[in-house]
Amino acid sequence: MANAPQTATKNRSKPSASTLPRPRIAIAIMAAGKGTRLKSKHPKVLHEIGGKPILAHVIATAQKVVPAQDIFVVIGHEAERVREAVAGTGVNFVLQAEQRGTGHALMAARDALSNYEQVIVLSGDAPLITGDTIRKLSDFHASQKATMTLLSAELDNPYGYGRVIRKGKAADVQAIVEEKSASAQQKKIREINSGFYAFNVPALYEHIGQLSTANPHGEYYLTDMADVFHRARKKVVAIKTDDAGEVLGSNTRAEMMMLDARLRLAKCRELLDGGVTIFYPHTCVIDSDVEVGADTVIEPFVQLLGQTKIGADCRIRSYSIIENSIIGDGVTLKPGTLMAESRVDAGAVIGPYTHMRPGSEVGEGAHLGNFVETKKVKLGKGSKANHLSYLGDAEIGEGVNIGAGTITCNYDGVNKHQTVIEDGVFVGSDSTLVAPVKIGRGAYVAAASCITDDVPADALALGRARQSVKEGWARAKREAQKKEKRR
Ligand code: UD1
Ligand code: CA
Repeated sequence: MANAPQTATKNRSKPSASTLPRPRIAIAIMAAGKGTRLKSKHPKVLHEIGGKPILAHVIATAQKVVPAQDIFVVIGHEAERVREAVAGTGVNFVLQAEQRGTGHALMAARDALSNYEQVIVLSGDAPLITGDTIRKLSDFHASQKATMTLLSAELDNPYGYGRVIRKGKAADVQAIVEEKSASAQQKKIREINSGFYAFNVPALYEHIGQLSTANPHGEYYLTDMADVFHRARKKVVAIKTDDAGEVLGSNTRAEMMMLDARLRLAKCRELLDGGVTIFYPHTCVIDSDVEVGADTVIEPFVQLLGQTKIGADCRIRSYSIIENSIIGDGVTLKPGTLMAESRVDAGAVIGPYTHMRPGSEVGEGAHLGNFVETKKVKLGKGSKANHLSYLGDAEIGEGVNIGAGTITCNYDGVNKHQTVIEDGVFVGSDSTLVAPVKIGRGAYVAAASCITDDVPADALALGRARQSVKEGWARAKREAQKKEKRR
């Protein structure tokens, strides 16, 4: 049912019935509310679950059903922040300057939707809905020739949701009653309104003016359209979803955390199905967009965040936190590896307790070990920095050995400078390399050197005080101390 973008454009410019092979379908996403129940200074739809804003999940799902140009996000509270956060998706925005309820949100979208036949309405705070369910709702609406179709669900605890008042045995609905207005009898109804609807657009706007604010919140409820249409003898129906979990909203922090847990467990299940081993999945935090190759093993308490991509046959050991990074096949990350915006090629071994800051690139089979911090560094194939180092703003070639405690002094208090270490160099332990400086191919730097000048290829550089030895000095000192005591 998704219109190809070209068809949609053509239809828009030529709205005569003969050029409309299928109903023109738009999706409206209501995202203008404040989210008072969260007690937050951030708009509700920008709170993150599964590592991205709730609204971004809803938009991604909507895009599985119609192209971005047919999606209209109703924004209002902190409109600019919300727009900015999701503008990259290419969807349209409708401003609901004052937020006077879900019915009012659709009033604001009147002009934007005027060229469409059907609008599917989604809640910007209910991110678990699937494309399949949206399609079912839309198809059911069309097949029933209904004016309004709502997606309902049977919940064990329906508290807080609008209840569906059915009429007779068919799919017909008489009204939706909000929690605050429901009678004791109505509160017992477990079939709830999910906040997802399909409407016939012309009928919606012909009747939307009949909504009133005579309710406990003093708002225009979109849910009241059921009653409005019912009284106008228009067909209102409900289709019940098989998976009630899909419709859950996030009005409170507790609900939000529940959705986050569901999403992350679903993500783990997807990775497990793809051949990844995850021990104790409920201890891991894996964002929705993360990719992991088959036969990779993820130990407990691992976080894989953002756009991270991990290859096959890797082992990601406990307490590693990897953000927006690319990891090749057969890589081992030992416990406590921290990595952001970095790249590790096949077969490399990182950690324990390595901190790779943005712009770190580690070549095939290279090693970074305990307490090594890197930033904007290229480490070539097979090179090693195994212990206690800081490597920043450096280009390090292949087969280089960086001794324990080596430090690139990249910062002079004002500017950052580059260190270049060519292939096959051996840097002795506890050396400081004062940038800008270059160590030529195959050179040696003696341990504990402070290197301030370039070192030519194949040379040995010594930059430390010469050792002097005073024979018998210690013994003489001890004897002098003994004499002192006896006195
Ligand atoms: C709504 C339904 C309720 C349903 C529930 C399902 C109404 C009156 N009630 O209640 O029947 O069971 O969803 O989750 O619709 N919004 C706007 N503009 C506004 C007000 C809200 O865009 O003026 C947006 C919000 O940002 C939110 C969505 O609409 O994304 C739903 O609003 P919310 O206040 O969360 O409605 P519920 O109380 O959950
Ligand atoms: Ca809600």
